[in-house]
Amino acid sequence: MNEIETKIKTLRDELEQHNYNYYVLSTPTISDYEFDIKLKELQVLEGANPEYADPTSPTQRVGSDLSKEFEQVAHKYPMLSLGNTYSENEVRDFYTRTMRLLNEPFDIVGELKYDGTSISLIYEQGRLVRAITRGDGTRGDDVTANVKTIRSIPLKLRGNDYPDVFEIRGEILLPWAEFDRLNKAREEQEEPLFANPRNAASGTLKQQNPVIVASRKLDAYFYYLLGENLPGQGHYENLEYARSWGFKVPDVIRKCHTLDEVFAYLSYWNVERKNLPVATDGVVLKVNSLLQQKNLGFTSKSPRWAIAYKFQAEQAVTRLNSVSFQVGRTGAVTPVANLEPVLLSGTTVKRASLHNADIIEGLDLHIGDNVCVEKGGEIIPKIVGVDKDARSMMMGDKVRFIKNCPECGTPLYRPEGEAAHYCPNESGCPPQIKGKIEHFVTRRAMNINIGPETVEDLYEADYVKNAADLYTLTIPDLLSLDRWAEKSAQNLMDSLEQSKTVPFERVLFALGIRYVGETVAKRLAFAFRDINNLQQATLESMTDVDEIGERIAQSVLNYFADERNKTVINRLKEYGLQTSIDETVLADRSEKLKGSTIVISGTFTKHSRDEYKAMIEQHGGKNSGSVSGKTDYILAGENMGPAKLEKAAKLGVKIINEDEFLNMLKK
Ligand code: IVH
Repeated sequence: MNEIETKIKTLRDELEQHNYNYYVLSTPTISDYEFDIKLKELQVLEGANPEYADPTSPTQRVGSDLSKEFEQVAHKYPMLSLGNTYSENEVRDFYTRTMRLLNEPFDIVGELKYDGTSISLIYEQGRLVRAITRGDGTRGDDVTANVKTIRSIPLKLRGNDYPDVFEIRGEILLPWAEFDRLNKAREEQEEPLFANPRNAASGTLKQQNPVIVASRKLDAYFYYLLGENLPGQGHYENLEYARSWGFKVPDVIRKCHTLDEVFAYLSYWNVERKNLPVATDGVVLKVNSLLQQKNLGFTSKSPRWAIAYKFQAEQAVTRLNSVSFQVGRTGAVTPVANLEPVLLSGTTVKRASLHNADIIEGLDLHIGDNVCVEKGGEIIPKIVGVDKDARSMMMGDKVRFIKNCPECGTPLYRPEGEAAHYCPNESGCPPQIKGKIEHFVTRRAMNINIGPETVEDLYEADYVKNAADLYTLTIPDLLSLDRWAEKSAQNLMDSLEQSKTVPFERVLFALGIRYVGETVAKRLAFAFRDINNLQQATLESMTDVDEIGERIAQSVLNYFADERNKTVINRLKEYGLQTSIDETVLADRSEKLKGSTIVISGTFTKHSRDEYKAMIEQHGGKNSGSVSGKTDYILAGENMGPAKLEKAAKLGVKIINEDEFLNMLKK
């Protein structure tokens, strides 16, 4: 081994040890900063010496942004499910059945049942070669690139007593803290929230972009080793081996010799699980001896040597007082149960989601029913059952899904294949109108300085019924409302005035046309240049624009077909909002960079990074954050990152400086 190779190997070993200390043992021994320095050093060396590339190097964990569809692969051993039990009696049945079938002493291993998404990892010669999702149990998606970003999963194993080839199965989880953080960020971005960590974990694993996966901080716990030459005779022993190879095997697993020990394990975790950093929904009990497992065998769906005991989701019984129907900003109608307040897992519950018409029908719900509310992994409690025996002669009315919008009276519709009902009256239904105004004023749209509460007040006071009305507000109007003073009123006036300079593409986005997000608005604005042109555009002329499909085009047509929308637009024009592309910007636009992907790196003297970014887009190019096979140029300033430099060299990407870039635009 030469000097460079040795250096690379030492760095890889060191970094992998630090990963293990941090993510598996939770006892880091160096700072994040020191870690990053070493990682960068390794990246540079690997970039400059591609002959020593290794898919299991710690540098492979950051993900590349090359998107790809997942490949479907067959499982060598099918991924089965477990039989579920819900009571100690059923557990006792499992135990006695096992005793009868085996007719000899046996041990049971107790483990927690982690509530995430299952994964099967294949290792060959101590290296992770493939990660496959459960899929339909027989075939799953190859998500190796995504799984490599999970720092607690070893890419290379420790020790040397592992089989040449084996599989290990476990659960990929998003810890509660990360789940909360992710949902908070999504709320701020007005993106839909994940209902529970399980959905978040499986959604993340199916992301096409491993960089996003890497940012979500998934974790993985392992509970099942499979292969021809496993080191131990028992499941428990094999998991201990797996732990020694670097896997995160929970240390809460227990070998139980008697049924009483099993019960003790169940009751302990029934309570203690609330203190864990990840979601669990039960305990899994497995016969320890592999030989005994083999003798017990499998049914078509699940092993006879294991069962799951599901924790009771916390439930309470209370009276259903009424059902209300809420209309959201998109017009979706959600039924909500109003309950007699009841204490459930430490909080008072007064309302529960009923989801949709099918759920209400399935429960055969009547007003006054005693209903069972459950707080599972979901954020909002749900109704899971009705005590029909408790119904008296005085039974209340059957709950029926409404036919008309409770806010505006318009008949509701239910799109084919969807469970939800919608109010179609987009521009006349109060919550939808308020939602649209709230969107109109957001920072990325018109950036007008008011929040949802003010929108509500202005709407209720009849001052603002659509976006255009904002521009007719006067200081006396505002002063007539609660909480307004001269200064705040003036601020809003200034903010409205300022919004008249917001460029057309953002105005178009602000209108809140369904499916017209920021990017689509930009494309349409630059393609049609003026709102009049867009108003006259046909389906064909719109779908001719890059990345504009029929669904979007149809939505734009529908929007402009509505007279009320036309009036709003005419008024906005009249008040001086930008309804065409700024000529000076337009004059500077070109397609000189069309088809080029450019990465910006380093610091510049003539323009800021943001300005260069805008220039790239203005001239039809694409700005990307990381160097890949698709990169055409790197616009490099001072102090360009060494990792990028090396990668560029390796991939043969052309590096240009500020002047060269500006010259390209002059040509
Ligand atoms: S063992 C053949 N152990 O539960 C048995 N599964 O219903 C293989 N799960 O798909 C599974 N924690 O996603 C096993 N400690 C644990 C588990 C566990 C969670 C999940 C797993 C599996 C499902 C089975």
